[in-house]
Amino acid sequence: MPLARPFLKWAGGKTQLLQQLARFYPPKGSVGRYIEPFLGSGAVFFHFKAMVEPRRVLLWDNNRELIDSFKAVQDNVGQVIKLLSRYREQHSKDFFLAMREKRPKSPAAIAARLIYLNKTCFNGLYRVNSRGIFNVPFGKHRNPGLFNEACLRQAAAQLAGAKIEAADFRLLELEAKAGDFIYFDPPYHPRSKTSYFTAYTRELFGRAEQEKLAALYRVLDRKGCLLMLSNSDTPLIRELYGDFDIREVSARRMINSRADRRGAIRELLVLNRKLVEASRGPA
Ligand SMILES: C[S@@+](CC[C@H](N)C(=O)[O-])C[C@H]1O[C@@H](n2cnc3c(N)ncnc32)[C@H](O)[C@@H]1O
Repeated sequence: MPLARPFLKWAGGKTQLLQQLARFYPPKGSVGRYIEPFLGSGAVFFHFKAMVEPRRVLLWDNNRELIDSFKAVQDNVGQVIKLLSRYREQHSKDFFLAMREKRPKSPAAIAARLIYLNKTCFNGLYRVNSRGIFNVPFGKHRNPGLFNEACLRQAAAQLAGAKIEAADFRLLELEAKAGDFIYFDPPYHPRSKTSYFTAYTRELFGRAEQEKLAALYRVLDRKGCLLMLSNSDTPLIRELYGDFDIREVSARRMINSRADRRGAIRELLVLNRKLVEASRGPA
C-alpha cells in the first residue's frame, strides 16, 4: 500500500525531513494517541500514521480553512474529487482569479478551492493579506498536477477516525495526557528579520508565542507526554529548550520568496527524555 502523501504544498512542509524524524519515532503499535497541533500539510502525520499506527489521532491548526479542507477530505473525498475534476477542465488565469474571490460555504467546496489555488498559484505558497484573504498571484503552470485521485483517497483512509479541529496550540495544556506522542511544527523563529515567511494566518507567531510554546513543552514533559518539536537553529530556540535533547537536522527549504535563499539549512529537533527512551534513538 503506498504511503499517503500531503495533498497540499505548505510552507515549512516536512516531507524531506521524514527519514531524519523517523529515527525517533516510538516502536510500531506503542502509541495510544498521536497529536499534531500545527498540522500544515500533515506530512509528518501521514508518515507517522503509516509507520507507527497510533490508535487515536488528534490534529489541530488555527487555520480554519485548512482544517475544513482536511475534514472534507476525511468525510467526503468523492465530492472533493468531483469538484477538482471540474476545476481541472476549466483551469485558466481568469478561472483562477474568479476562484480566488470565491468564499464557498460547503466543506467540499472549501477543500477543492484550497487545493486548486494551492496547486495553481505562484510558487504554491499559501499567504493571506491583512484581511485574511488569500492573495497569491497566478502561477502560469502549463499543466498543474492539480490532484492525484489515488493519493487523495489514501489520505482520506488515513484520516478516518481522526479528530480534526481548528484550535490554538495553547489549549493543548488541557487536552494532553501522559503517554500521548506530540509533534510540534510551529512557524519557525526567524533567523533574521527578513528570512522567514510566517504569514500562514493573520496572527503572526512572534517571540512571545515561541516562549509560550516552550513553557507548554515543559508542562507536557512533566505530564509524561512523548515530545518532538521542530524549529530553526537560532540562539533563542537553543536557549528556550536548553534542558532538552536538541538534535540538528539538515533541510533543503523549497519555499522561500527569495530564490537565492533556497538551499540546505540546519534546523533543530527537540526531544524529551521520554521520547528518546521510547524510540531508543541513537545517543
Ligand atoms: C510550519 S507549519 C506546519 C508545517 C507542517 N508540519 C507540514 O509538514 O506541512 C505551521 C502551521 O502552524 C499553524 N499555526 C500558526 N499559529 C498557530 C497557533 N497559534 N495555533 C495552532 N496552529 C498555528 C499555521 O497555520 C501552519 O499551518
